[in-house]
Amino acid sequence: MDSILRWKTLTRFSWLMVVLAALFHFSSGISEVTKAVQGMAALSCNYNISVDELSRVRIYWQKENNMVLSIISGNVQVWSQYQNRTFPDITNNLSLVILALRLSDRGTYTCVVQKTVKGSFKVQHLTSVMLSIKADFPTPSITDFEHPSPDLRRILCSTSGGFPKPSLSWLENGEELKAVNTTVYQDPETELYTVHSNLDFNVTSNHSFMCLIKYGDLSVSQIFNWEKLKEDPPGNQIGVPILIGVSVVIVIGIIALCFYCIYSSPPDRPTAVSKLTTSWSASCLLLPGTSLSQYLQDPATRPTTPHLQDLQPTTPTP
Ligand SMILES: *[C@@H]1O[C@H](CO)[C@@H](O)[C@H](O)[C@H]1NC(C)=O
Ligand SMILES: *[C@@H]1O[C@H](CO)[C@@H](O)[C@H](O)[C@H]1NC(C)=O
Ligand SMILES: *[C@@H]1O[C@H](CO)[C@@H](O)[C@H](O)[C@H]1NC(C)=O
Ligand SMILES: *[C@@H]1O[C@H](CO)[C@@H](O)[C@H](O)[C@H]1NC(C)=O
Ligand SMILES: *[C@@H]1O[C@H](CO)[C@@H](O)[C@H](O)[C@H]1NC(C)=O
Ligand SMILES: *[C@@H]1O[C@H](CO)[C@@H](O)[C@H](O)[C@H]1NC(C)=O
Repeated sequence: MDSILRWKTLTRFSWLMVVLAALFHFSSGISEVTKAVQGMAALSCNYNISVDELSRVRIYWQKENNMVLSIISGNVQVWSQYQNRTFPDITNNLSLVILALRLSDRGTYTCVVQKTVKGSFKVQHLTSVMLSIKADFPTPSITDFEHPSPDLRRILCSTSGGFPKPSLSWLENGEELKAVNTTVYQDPETELYTVHSNLDFNVTSNHSFMCLIKYGDLSVSQIFNWEKLKEDPPGNQIGVPILIGVSVVIVIGIIALCFYCIYSSPPDRPTAVSKLTTSWSASCLLLPGTSLSQYLQDPATRPTTPHLQDLQPTTPTP
C-alpha cells in the first residue's frame, strides 16, 4: 500500500517536472526582435539542417495562424503579403529574412520543422519569435516660408514616417501657442503618419519657439529662434549689393566704350556713324585732354582720304 502511494506521488511529481520543463522550454523559446520600419529582420528558427536532409523535411514559418513561408521537398513558397521581400536563410539556423519591414509585420512568428518518422511527418522542432516594429519620427524640420503681412512671418514644422498617431504643439517659454493649420495624415498602405503645422508670429520682437511632437510615449522636437529685425527695412539690405553691382557694370561699360572709340574709329570717316562716334569720342577724350576742336570739325570740311571717298555713291556735281 505504502509503496504504491509513494510510487504514485513520484509519478505525479515527475509529470509536474515534465510540464514545468516544457513551460520553461516554451517561454525561453520565444525570443524578441525589434527592428525599424522599412528595415530588415532575420528571425532564427534555431535549428540547423544539412542540404541533403532538406528534401526529407517540411519547414513552415507562420505568423499567428497565417502562412508566411514553407519549404517542402526543398521547394520554397512565399505567401502573397511577404512576396518579393522574404526568403529563408537555410544555412543560418533556418532563419526567416524579411526585408522592407511594415508595421503590419509585427507579431509572433512560429517555425515548425517536421520530419518523416516511419512514413508520416512528425513535429521535430518548434520555435517562436516575437517581432516588434518601431517607427520613430525623425527630428522635425522648421522652415520659414511665408509672409502673410509685413509684420508677420509664417513658419512650418513637419515630420513623417512615424507611428502611432502624433500630436503636435507649438510652445514659447513653456506656454502653448495657437497654430494656424495642423494636419495629421496616415498613409493607408504603410500606416505611417505625417504631421505638419504652421505658426504665425510678429517679427517685431525676439522669439524662441519649440515644435513638439508626441507619439506613444516618445517625442521629438525642434527649436526655432527669431531675432528682432533691425530698424532698416530688409529691402535696403538686399538693395545695396544690387546697387553696387549695377554701378560696377555701368562703369565697366563706359570704359569699354571709350576704348572702342579711341582705337576703332578714325575721326575722318565721313559717314553718319562717323558723326556719332566722333561725338562719342569727343565726350570720352575730353578727359585725357585731347583737343576737342579736332573732333568737332564739320565732316564736310574735314580732310578725307581718297580711298574712302571712292566708296561713296557718286553724286552729280553741278
Ligand atoms: C547552427 O550552425 C551554426 C554555424 O554552423 C552555429 O553557429 C549554430 O550554433 C548552430 N545552431 C544550432 C541551433 O545548432
Ligand atoms: C513580385 O515580383 C514579381 C516580379 O517582379 C511581380 O510580378 C509580382 O507581382 C510581385 N508580387 C508582389 C506581391 O508584389
Ligand atoms: C544560430 O543560433 C544559435 C543559437 O541561438 C546562435 O548562437 C548562432 O549564432 C546562430 N547562428 C548564426 C550563424 O547566426
Ligand atoms: C488650412 O488648410 C486648409 C486645407 O489645406 C485650407 O483650406 C485653409 O485655408 C488653411 N487655413 C489657413 C488659415 O491657412
Ligand atoms: C506686431 O507688434 C507690434 C509691436 O508690438 C505691433 O505694433 C503690431 O501691430 C504687431 N503686428 C501684428 C500684425 O500683430
Ligand atoms: C533680441 O536678441 C538680440 C540678440 O540675441 C539682442 O541683442 C536684443 O537685445 C534682443 N532684443 C530684445 C528686444 O530682447
